[in-house]
Order: sequence, then structure tokens, then C-alpha cells
Amino acid sequence: MAQRYDIRQTYDWNYLHAPASPPAVAVAPCPGQWRFCGIPVASPLGVPAGPLLNSRWILHYAALGFDVLTYKTVRSAYRACYDLPNLLPVERGELREEGHTLHAASGSGEYDSWAISFGMPSRDPVEWRADIGRARQGLHSAQALVVSVVASPQPGWTLQDVANDFAVCARQAADAGAQVVEANLSCPNVCTQEADLFLSPEAARLVASTVRAAMPDLPLALKVGLFPGRTCMEDVVAAVAPFADAICATNSITAKVAGEDGLLFGGLRRGIGGRAIAARCLEETALLRRVLDAQGSPMDLISVGGVATAQDVRDRLHAGATHVQIATAAMIDPMVAIRIREESI
Ligand SMILES: Cc1cc2nc3c(=O)[nH]c(=O)nc-3n(C[C@H](O)[C@H](O)[C@H](O)COP(=O)(O)O)c2cc1C
Repeated sequence: MAQRYDIRQTYDWNYLHAPASPPAVAVAPCPGQWRFCGIPVASPLGVPAGPLLNSRWILHYAALGFDVLTYKTVRSAYRACYDLPNLLPVERGELREEGHTLHAASGSGEYDSWAISFGMPSRDPVEWRADIGRARQGLHSAQALVVSVVASPQPGWTLQDVANDFAVCARQAADAGAQVVEANLSCPNVCTQEADLFLSPEAARLVASTVRAAMPDLPLALKVGLFPGRTCMEDVVAAVAPFADAICATNSITAKVAGEDGLLFGGLRRGIGGRAIAARCLEETALLRRVLDAQGSPMDLISVGGVATAQDVRDRLHAGATHVQIATAAMIDPMVAIRIREESI
């Protein structure tokens, strides 16, 4: 078994104890022609923002059958991680809407989903810029490096200030070696201004246009959460279409989590990743495809949320995704892409 993230340990511990060198594993080819935001890649398989804390984690998963590697969201200044638990397994079940309550999984049994609670920590930009360069250098030519960025709003900031901070990070990520920049417009686990920008066509457009102006040379992807309905989705897609090259959905679906003694995380919702959100995220991918097609939009559609098997990948591609990303299942089983590639996609 290849090394995996230790959920009993802190983010900092896992950052420092990243795999020392990429594992030597046979990776089956993935027949077909695959492109990610115009970049030729060896497969439609990627890891979204989150599991890959630094270049050593990037190169670890790059050796394990993933060809699009996303550097965990970075900020324009250092930000500490939330306290443990950062990843809390929940009982098996299906989550179709925001805001339900799930139960924490008991004991040390098997699980396939968890509550995600990091608060988007970031190393200092000096550190992440140098590290992005190392990640890029270690990838081979049919792989692509995405860097996820987010703003860090200060009291009194306008939306334009927020957009400018996104743009500063995007420019720095591009200069450091990113091939694609992803602006995270949805973070379910933070309560400040950067959390739900994707729900506002005006806000999403301002961020996308400001980043595009600062970074005209690279593809721009936008990470979004679950849309409350088709109209909102249509309005946001139309608003960002002139500036973005890809939409990445769905970040996660939020829920409260109950432990034995009541609600955890101070009663606040946390994003749920894993099997629990798979069916709903597949539907969202299909709806996004219909909306993109109806608007004649050439944007790539990156499907994320609950993917774990070759059948899931086939379903996402069939639903109209151009690329498929796996977070939770890849952390639970780092060999997941190796197994998926051994079946035909
Ligand atoms: C450990 C972990 C950390 C995450 N951190 C981020 C992040 O920094 N930025 C982001 O856009 N999404 C983040 N996510 C969300 C994932 O990118 C993904 O959208 C979500 O987990 C759903 O995919 P999954 O069901 O395959 O886990 C994180 C997820 C996990 C599991």
C-alpha cells in the first residue's frame, strides 16, 4: 500500500511527513486522447484541490496514475489550519441536499465519506511559490499542474479587493509554474466573504474577470459548490463564460455532524466528501453539461465529488465531464487510479 494521509495527525504533521520519493508502481496506459484545458494529458484522472499539500504529495500521486494534479488552495499570506479533526469519517449514507445532519462513524470501522474541516490553511507565499516550482519540475510532459487559489478578505474589503487578492495569488501561482490556475469560489468550511462567491453571478464574474486580466497567459478554472437550482447555475455560467476555461464541480455538500454528545464543529456545517455525495454530484455534472451546451460554452467541465471506481469515471464522462477528479477515495486508497486504469474507462 502506498503512503497515505494520516487523519489522526494534524495538517502540519502531514505536510512535513509527505512521501519522501514517488513510489515505483506500474501504471496502465489510458487509451484515448485526453486534454485538460487544452493541455494534452495521459488520462482524464486528476486529484482536486485538497489532498496534495505540497510538491512531495503531488509527485506521489503523479506516480499513482493521476495526470492532473491540483496543489491545495494557497493564499496571499500564511493561514493556520483548523484544529483536529480535519477529516472526520461519517456513517455510510447518501447526501442529496445541503444542511442535513450526519452521524460521525463509530469506532475504527470502514468508511467511505468524511467531514472536511481545514479552513483552507496556507503556507507563506515564499514557501508555496518555491514548492510549486518543484512540483512542476517533477511532472512528466503528459501531466498538468493546477494551483488552487483563494482570497483572504480583511475587514472592510470590497468585492473588488477580494477579486484583486485572488488575482495576486493567481499571478504568483502562474509565475511559480502552474499550468492552470483554479480560483476556489466555494469553501463550505469558512464563514467569511470568500466562501460562497459562486452563488452570485456578479461576484463570480468580477473575480473571474479580474484574475483573467492579471493572468492572461494561462487557463483559468473556477471551483464551485452545489447550485441551489438551474437558474442560478445558468446565470453564473453565463457570467463567467467570457473569462474562464473550465468549471470544476462540485466542491462538496455541507452537513452538520452529530457525535455521541451532540453536534460537532460547534454546530457549524462542514463539507462532506466521498461516496455520500456521489449520486448528487453526478446529477450536477449532467445538469452543468446541459447548461454549458445550451449556452454554446466551450468551457471544460471537471467533475468531482464521490468518484471512486472505473464505473464512476465512465458515468461522469458519459454525463458530459471532460475530466474527473478524486479526493476522498484517493486518500482512503492511494491505489484507486491504478485500479481504475486496469479496467477500461
Ligand atoms: C483533505 C481535503 C482537503 C480539501 N481541501 C480543499 C481545498 O483546499 N480547496 C478546495 O477547493 N477543495 C478542497 N477540498 C475539496 C475537494 O477538492 C473535493 O471538491 C471534495 O472533497 C469532493 O470530492 P471527493 O468526494 O472526491 O472527496 C478538500 C478535500 C479534502 C478531502
